[in-house]
Amino acid sequence: MKISVVGTGYVGLVSGTCIAETGVNVACVDIDETKIEKLNNGIIPIYEPGLEDIYKKNVEKGRLEFTTDLGASIKDADAVFIAVGTPPDEDGSADLKYVLGVAREIGKNMDHYLVVVTKSTVPVGTSVKVKQAILEELEKRGEKIPFDVASNPEFLKEGSAVNDFLKPDRIVIGTESKRAQKVMQRLYKPFVLNGHPILFMDITSSEMTKYAANSMLATKISFINDIANLCELVGADVDNVRRGIGSDPRIGNKFIYPGTGYGGSCFPKDVQALIRTADEFNYSLDVLKAVEKVNYRQKEVLFNKLYKRFEGDLKGKKFALWGLSFKPKTDDMREAPSLVIIEKLLEAGASVAGYDPVAMHEAERILGDKISYAKDEYDALIDADALILVTEWSEFRLPNFRVMEKLLKSKIIFDGRNIYDPEELAELGFEYFAIGRKT
Ligand code: UGA
Repeated sequence: MKISVVGTGYVGLVSGTCIAETGVNVACVDIDETKIEKLNNGIIPIYEPGLEDIYKKNVEKGRLEFTTDLGASIKDADAVFIAVGTPPDEDGSADLKYVLGVAREIGKNMDHYLVVVTKSTVPVGTSVKVKQAILEELEKRGEKIPFDVASNPEFLKEGSAVNDFLKPDRIVIGTESKRAQKVMQRLYKPFVLNGHPILFMDITSSEMTKYAANSMLATKISFINDIANLCELVGADVDNVRRGIGSDPRIGNKFIYPGTGYGGSCFPKDVQALIRTADEFNYSLDVLKAVEKVNYRQKEVLFNKLYKRFEGDLKGKKFALWGLSFKPKTDDMREAPSLVIIEKLLEAGASVAGYDPVAMHEAERILGDKISYAKDEYDALIDADALILVTEWSEFRLPNFRVMEKLLKSKIIFDGRNIYDPEELAELGFEYFAIGRKT
């Protein structure tokens, strides 16, 4: 089989590379010439564990290639995947100009039956627009080439995207024809050998599934964050409560870890987009509106604790910040809670020494010289008035507290992810602040 994947971001690159792993010939397409040049020279523009190995292997085997030529990439393809970005508009709805632009290019260039698969996260109803755009282009050419559209949302998590793709919990595919279903079934069969299902459904339900999944997960997080804040007020420990509720299989123990609010390129954008879709149908998604509101508030919780501890006097103080990316195992800083905390600290006249195991370059790109960049986690602590832990990278879990107390000006830790043991820190003489815990 042969496929074309348009868009070499997280989704496109991971999907294309993993599909090549099954023996399919894959052409990854992007309009960004520099990106394609890099990919043709062995440079992967993102950090994603496990990606480099299978990328190299499949490029060597000649099954994975990178090009800016969309037309050539679909020449003898069975399917073309649209995996370009859908940035939020000013009003929060997803901007479809890239997706529909690709659809038009496909319409201009196709010369045989193709399944056109939408892989980007797109609002309900987008596949109809994709189909329309292709039909319009074919009409302009006076051609009547058959094609099908399909929706195949991705459920990859940054940081474990390769593993998620190779061993999916489920694959959701929305189709309108048996012909398209057959192509998709063939393509995905190698990934469901572990018994997990391919769920075929209509296109609208498939598009909706993606938003409902991310919104449900975001809801779990905002819910536990809200409960965490209340735990503090009533004198409960959210870690106990989390374990207490998580052992009920109806609730489940995943995605109920409190923190500094969800970030990343997906949850904030998708929650907003679903609210917008509902608005268009004159329906108010009140639960999700609250989820969003709680999340904004949560990103400030750690700063507020710090502000209170220092009685509002942050001018001239220095803070060490561990973890800049929005979550561990990625260099992605989009919507990262660290950015909100840094902004508030700088506004209050404090300085920040940041450290992250992989996001240092990304941080420099975004923040420039607004903060200083430490060479490792201990370096960040030198003369700092406190440590603020924002992202729970595993290497931060068991630091040498004896070394830390020598470097820090005062033994204070603000832990935005509840990774330390309050009793241990109390014994070591640290002042410890966490989220929703008795400290
Ligand atoms: C999310 C979904 O988990 C994927 O299934 C989906 O495919 C992806 O969005 C997408 O739409 O592309 P991702 O954004 O990579 O994946 O990140 P997650 O691992 O889901 O984490 C999102 C945020 O929630 C992070 O800021 C994380 O720190 C936070 N989180 C997660 C918590 O605060 N508590 C938890 O218990 C779990």
